[in-house]
Amino acid sequence: MGTIQEEIQKRRTFAIISHPDAGKTTLTEKFLLFGGAIQTAGAVKNNKITKTAASDFMEIERQRGISVATSVMAFHYKNRLINLLDTPGHKDFAEDTYRTLTAVDSVILVIDCVKGVEAQTERLMEVCRMRNTPVIVFINKMDLEGQDPFDLLDELEEKLKIQVRPLSWPISGGQSFKGVYSLYDKELRLFNPDKTKISKNIISISDIGDPELNEWVGDDHAEQLRTDTELIEGVYDEWNAAPYLEGKMAPVFFGSAVNNFGIQEMLDTFIEIAPDPRPRQTDLREVNPTENAFSGFIFKIHANIDPRHRDRIAFMRVCSGKFQRNTFFHHTRIQKKLKFANPATFLAQDKSVVDEAWPGDVVGLYDTGTFKIGDTLTEGENFTFRGIPSFSPEIFKELVNKDPMKSKQLDKGIQQLTDEGVAQLFIRELGNRKIVGTVGELQFEVIQYRLEHEYGAKCEFQSKPYYKACWIVSKDESKLDEFKRIKGADMVKDKDGNDVFLAPSKFLLDMEIANYPELTFHFTSEFKTAQIQ
Ligand code: G4P
Repeated sequence: MGTIQEEIQKRRTFAIISHPDAGKTTLTEKFLLFGGAIQTAGAVKNNKITKTAASDFMEIERQRGISVATSVMAFHYKNRLINLLDTPGHKDFAEDTYRTLTAVDSVILVIDCVKGVEAQTERLMEVCRMRNTPVIVFINKMDLEGQDPFDLLDELEEKLKIQVRPLSWPISGGQSFKGVYSLYDKELRLFNPDKTKISKNIISISDIGDPELNEWVGDDHAEQLRTDTELIEGVYDEWNAAPYLEGKMAPVFFGSAVNNFGIQEMLDTFIEIAPDPRPRQTDLREVNPTENAFSGFIFKIHANIDPRHRDRIAFMRVCSGKFQRNTFFHHTRIQKKLKFANPATFLAQDKSVVDEAWPGDVVGLYDTGTFKIGDTLTEGENFTFRGIPSFSPEIFKELVNKDPMKSKQLDKGIQQLTDEGVAQLFIRELGNRKIVGTVGELQFEVIQYRLEHEYGAKCEFQSKPYYKACWIVSKDESKLDEFKRIKGADMVKDKDGNDVFLAPSKFLLDMEIANYPELTFHFTSEFKTAQIQ
């Protein structure tokens, strides 16, 4: 164990994100193989939520249960300790992914070279942009006939609204894929499809004009590569890590995850350029990881899948100082001292009790309902970490109690499930009506099932045809009051008591925005801090 500075410099905490099927699971698995964290391919596959049918809810819960163990995969690679945070690929769990992104220092974004930028990629990138998270792009499946690499880069810039800079370049693609030329190390890496071995065919070609290149890839491909690299040097700025670290520019790599190709170079570059744990903003001040006093925040809560035990695991990211087992820490929201007898870390596939943890690490805390997403633990100072946004849900339904004898249980259950982040709860003060908002239909099924099995409450959901939730604020109190009065039926409070307007349609929303220039309409709850890391 080293000093706090040494521990921090060693750590890289990141997530792999992608549209489903682009290759996130495969890439995760290859990283773990390189890190020696797993021995066989296929070990991570279980982690994937594969079933999409809502009727197969139990299967999804089972798979989510497995994913607790693999929520964080820590492994060592070349003197670094890498914390890879898993994100669910299933679109109905997109909110989980957004929150996990608040706990990482950088991301690797996987793109399928055939499909290009897909819907979910755009939304995930939006979250990264909000937080200026550094992004590395991996263009996967180069063994398939994909789109032209220049077109892909243009599409990335246009749809993801970020500058890109290739650090490797493919030589052909699909059937005739020859390999990549690393513009970073000036090396040629020849492709031979192999799912089990790492390609060792690396040839140093520092001058792209070298005729040796023709011998390796043939005259036509060599010429094409020379033209392409000339174009790249002309079009893209010289590689520089600073704009990457500011989240303004994304380096791009090409490869094939399933064939183990292009991955090790990316991992090697990643540990060189990716940021170590960064300072983080709270409502009071910026907290530096090197501070001696411990601090951390909860970014994810996972319920135990055993319905007889209502305990949950709260995942905490350490932000500063040293976390220690059996030591009292201060829960700043409820103003209580808490200590943890069995905090867990997740090294490789094993969950084990940990005695201490450092900035960048993720610790699993057993919880019986004291934590909400976004809660902060410190050594005594009263602050709350920022940057845990709620996004506007897409589906809204009213919760209707089906068993009047169990209304207490229903209230408690829906409160706890929404604290876990399963869905967002909005309360209409008038009549205490509860509107539940989610990003996918699946959550309603999850909630109904869990309310019944864990809390003994029966409920039903009635669709509400809302379009979006908007957090509204204004400097002009009287205008805000007027709006709230007129829109009374569509005004609700979120979990923190903020005013939220549930807009019935895009048309009506646009109209209100035009009618009330004194009011600001936000589509995430973190509007006050959206620009802050
Ligand atoms: P995800 O987690 O992003 O959803 O994607 P995942 O890694 O599961 O990959 C989706 C599919 O794409 C898998 O095929 C996987 O084998 C395939 N794949 C990943 N990388 C590459 C690549 O470089 N080239 C090609 N051609 N395919 C790739 P599957 O048929 O769904 O699963 P499996 O039965 O092959 O495991």
